[in-house]
Amino acid sequence: MNNWDQFLAPYKQAIEELKIKLKGMRRQFEQEHTHSPIEFVTGRVKPVASILDKARIKNIPLDKLATEMQDIAGLRMMCQFVDNIETVVKLLRNRNDFRIVEERNYISHKKPSGYRSYHVVIEYPVQTITGEKKILAEIQIRTLAMNFWATIEHSLNYKYKGQFPEEINKRLQGAAEAAFRLDEEMSKIKDEIQEAQVYFTKNKETGKKIDK
Ligand code: GTP
Ligand code: MG
Repeated sequence: MNNWDQFLAPYKQAIEELKIKLKGMRRQFEQEHTHSPIEFVTGRVKPVASILDKARIKNIPLDKLATEMQDIAGLRMMCQFVDNIETVVKLLRNRNDFRIVEERNYISHKKPSGYRSYHVVIEYPVQTITGEKKILAEIQIRTLAMNFWATIEHSLNYKYKGQFPEEINKRLQGAAEAAFRLDEEMSKIKDEIQEAQVYFTKNKETGKKIDK
């Protein structure tokens, strides 16, 4: 096993465990027949090349990665509605299997880029054959619209290395505004949507015909 594999092993384990745990939260809501504030969960360990890039840009010495790079382990929890995000954050605060070390609200304070998301950094204990190892992980909680925008912006960022042509920049700002309005519109008809979804899930489960 090389040094990177060794260093990243607890992060990999943490991601596997946390994906199961956070997806489990969604399933519990489904079992209760209540609308889940969580739509889906993803997770990844940052590729070594990205760790090196970020360490160089942010001037992080490689022997300080564990404490100074908070997103080597990263998870995303996607929500349908903006106010689901607060519900999810409260659920995370109530858990006993990790400790929240930092919260960053880029929803009330969106980034100049137009980026919106709620970030929770946790300290997660991984059990290894040589004892417990605490690692940092970043959980990004966002709506589907915020996620759509961030995903597109991220790939463009990759292409243009952060130096967007003016035209692209304007489009991205406009798209961020449109994503914000989409979230607002969906929030206004939230009750209608959720009623329909609970109705649909119940009928799907019982196999009953919908006769209305
Ligand atoms: P990082 O050095 O990237 O961690 O920035 P930071 O220390 O200021 O932390 P922050 O919470 O702002 O950002 C962490 C993560 O949020 C990034 O790795 C991205 O996944 C995401 N993020 C932050 N800003 C943007 C943005 O403008 N666009 C996109 N697409 N993602 C962003
Ligand atoms: Mg960060």
